[in-house]
Amino acid sequence: MSAQGGITAALGNVSEDDWHWHMYDTVKGSDYLGDQDAIEFMCRNAPSAVYELEHMGLPFSRLDNGKIYQRPFGGQSQNFGGEQAVRTCAAADRTGHALLHTLYQRNIAARTQFFDEFYALDLIRDQDGYVLGVSAMEIETGRPWLFESRVTLLATGGGARIFRHSTNAHINSGDGLGMALRAGLPLEDMEFWQFHPTGIPEIGSLITEGVRGEGGYLLNKDNERFMPRYAPHAQDLASRDVVSRAIAQEILAGRGCGPHGDFVYLKVDHIGADTIKERLPGIRELSMQFAGVDPCEAPIPVTPTAHYMMGGIPTNLHGQVVAPERYGPEEGVPGLYAVGECACVSVHGANRLGGNSLLDLVVFGRAAGNHAIEYLRDNPIPRKLPADASDLAAGRLARWDRPTGGERVPALRAEMQRILQEHCGVYRREDLLKAGIEKLNGVEARLADAVIDDHSQVFNTARLEALELENLLPIARATLVSALARTESRGAHSREDYPDRDDDHWLRHTLYSLANDQLDYKPVRLKPLTVETFQPKARTY
Ligand code: FUM
Repeated sequence: MSAQGGITAALGNVSEDDWHWHMYDTVKGSDYLGDQDAIEFMCRNAPSAVYELEHMGLPFSRLDNGKIYQRPFGGQSQNFGGEQAVRTCAAADRTGHALLHTLYQRNIAARTQFFDEFYALDLIRDQDGYVLGVSAMEIETGRPWLFESRVTLLATGGGARIFRHSTNAHINSGDGLGMALRAGLPLEDMEFWQFHPTGIPEIGSLITEGVRGEGGYLLNKDNERFMPRYAPHAQDLASRDVVSRAIAQEILAGRGCGPHGDFVYLKVDHIGADTIKERLPGIRELSMQFAGVDPCEAPIPVTPTAHYMMGGIPTNLHGQVVAPERYGPEEGVPGLYAVGECACVSVHGANRLGGNSLLDLVVFGRAAGNHAIEYLRDNPIPRKLPADASDLAAGRLARWDRPTGGERVPALRAEMQRILQEHCGVYRREDLLKAGIEKLNGVEARLADAVIDDHSQVFNTARLEALELENLLPIARATLVSALARTESRGAHSREDYPDRDDDHWLRHTLYSLANDQLDYKPVRLKPLTVETFQPKARTY
């Protein structure tokens, strides 16, 4: 939960607002690939979700009148595409962190039992498709465990660590996605990765969109404010795919900054040191620590950096995982839920708006919790575990105890990250993607012989990293294969060889399955729950 700048909800504390305008912006931001029933559900429920968090004690920043502070974020408008809206609720620039602690404390109050030093390995499914828990490793002892449960909810976050430059924590290795794929479930829309426009070059640390929300803007090496050329209306607060492409274009055109011309500057000192210290204290700290600049005095070097996965494990409005190949498009996999970045409802479609990720998490997290209670009521009797359930974990752990004489795991991981960075970045092309798949085939083949040097049982992080790579690699594969298949440009998926959006062929979701790299498709749900459809049209900012 590294989102810094905030959680979006049409509270109307600063500018007049309406959940329907929020819905319009989200549909447009998704480049019309988001499912409109899910988007309506999220935007309608946003204010109540934020107030619930406030009542739990989330320490939101405050306006002078005591109401929750809101700042403008990219792609937000009033009145269906009019003036900039001010919609993102913030706790300074540490909103995700504050949210995490608020929810954690609620769990303490509810006496939730945590299994902190455990690493989930695989889903346990019976022959009827029911999910009955997970196999896991106890990190402290290296021992395999089985967690038997009538409901399993995946909230394992994203997998942007498939890229070399990422804003994500090292732990974001997409474990839930790997588990889903190995259990025979597909992943939806894996070609759509968000490159956040403002990460610190090389290091990857996120510089929140809230900096531009507070009045910051981007500059090229000629000291030119270039965003008005790309997005005349929204300028620096266009949606993230647009801003990231603009930065990439400036760099490609030789207008990047620094000795290698590979970044641009984000200027914010003009809003004043007092405002920076009050509204953006974490960003000031990060900039000083990792970029060596104090944003109160000098601009911050920034570059587009892999940040968020729009795709994921397909779910419905109740957070239930849906498995089209077996149960029909809208039928849940019994006993399995997914929420947050690992899930794809899909509310973000081809491009997520900033501030909508924390919202997606809490709205659908709450819906999933409520639905799971009903599911438990309807399914009171535990089902019998498959006879081989305990072999699963032991088998995966034993593989890494085998001496093989192959390569080391960190070297293979670094190679995968380079491949994804070079072959599936902000811009994609058929020859690049095909070459990327070829190279990844090589890395996967070498994984079979890879080794770890440390075979101890206690807190063995080498083994953990190996298990994580087993999750990252299939995600990388799903990304490249889905990106090659989608012969159009939409949202964050920009094909140089197919520069236009193609609604006739591609107004549909991809579904990637591990077996034979199979791709299936399902239609976008254009019909909202209660309001009129926003019909696809050209997207400009
Ligand atoms: O820029 C940010 O603060 C990130 C927010 C988000 O990804 O939603």
